[in-house]
Amino acid sequence: MRIDIITVVPDILTSPFDVSILKRAIEKGLVEIHLHNLRDYVTDNYKQIDDYQFGGGAGMVMMIEPIDKCITGLKAEREYDEIIYMTPDGATLNQKTVNTLSLKENIIILCGHYKGVDQRVRDHFITREISIGDYVLSGGELAAAVLCDAVIRLIPGVLGNETSALTDSFQDDLLAPPVYTRPADYKGWKVPEILTSGNFPKIETWREEQSYLRTRQLRPDLLKDE
Ligand code: ADE
Repeated sequence: MRIDIITVVPDILTSPFDVSILKRAIEKGLVEIHLHNLRDYVTDNYKQIDDYQFGGGAGMVMMIEPIDKCITGLKAEREYDEIIYMTPDGATLNQKTVNTLSLKENIIILCGHYKGVDQRVRDHFITREISIGDYVLSGGELAAAVLCDAVIRLIPGVLGNETSALTDSFQDDLLAPPVYTRPADYKGWKVPEILTSGNFPKIETWREEQSYLRTRQLRPDLLKDE
């Protein structure tokens, strides 16, 4: 998979891809991340990427021309499956969208700033608008990092244990069951006996029950289709 990220602050996006699982995924050649500084696509001497809103109003708007130049240049090189705009008024990100995106070949992610981008960018280039929650960040970069992390860890070969992504919370619309590791008794706080019984069919049933109970208690909205 190849992900091209268009941003006015590429520095925010260097460290997330330089550590741990994402770094290893890049080193293994399972994903390529290309950061594009929008200012490199500006022709005027002031390197201006934003301007006042037509009609007045507080806040600057990201101009269409540098974004057009960047996206059109990328599209001339290869086909893109999705051109995503990170924005608080997009569709809230969930595991279903993450799963869908993990199957794509080439993706562009545009990070919004200020009051957002000129609407014509959204109308003519963007195929999907994503929010990571109902709150406003100072820019789309951290949201793009969240999206990339969630997507990249699903690419086959990225996680050591392939099954571990399948048992994540949300993967089947249920929260994951509680997990424990050694010691089995810590200051009198004991691990549920079933987990040390060695009876794996029973353990599986217990985990399924716990998933259901946890979901009913913490996120009953996930069970609303039942
Ligand atoms: N840009 C600013 N806030 C955002 C959010 N909540 N999700 C995605 N992009 C954003």
